[in-house]
Amino acid sequence: MIGRLNHVAIAVPDLDAGIALYRDTLGAKVNAPQDEPDHGVTVVFIELPNTKIELLHPLGENSPIAAFLEKNPTGGIHHICYEVDDILAARDKLQASGARVLGGGEPKIGAHGKPVLFLHPKDFTGTLIELEQV
Ligand code: CO
Repeated sequence: MIGRLNHVAIAVPDLDAGIALYRDTLGAKVNAPQDEPDHGVTVVFIELPNTKIELLHPLGENSPIAAFLEKNPTGGIHHICYEVDDILAARDKLQASGARVLGGGEPKIGAHGKPVLFLHPKDFTGTLIELEQV
C-alpha cells in the first residue's frame, strides 16, 4: 500500500541553525523557509537525491510541534511521510485493521498542496506517520 518515502520531518528549536547545518555543514540543497499558518509551522524543504528532509519550526501560539520541542529541546525526528496512491482507500484499510487515524480521519491539505493524514504513533512502533497522496 505505501510507496516511496516522501520526507523525514525534523523539528528544530532554531531554524537558522538548522538551515546552516544542512546547507553549510552537510552541503545539501536547502530551500527558503515557508510559513504554513494553517499547520502552525514554518517549513524548510531540503532536497536530497532520493527524498526530502523537512525542518519544522513552531509558528504562532498553538503550534502542534511546541509540545514536541518541549520534550525534545535540542530537536528530533518528528514524523516520516510515505506516499500512497489513494489516501481514502489507505485510510479505510488502516481503520479496518484497527489503526487510529488522527484528526477524525479526514485528509487535510499538507505543506505540498496534497491531501495528507497522520497515523497514531502508538499504533506504528512509536513513529508518527504521515501519508501523502501523490
Ligand atoms: Co510532513
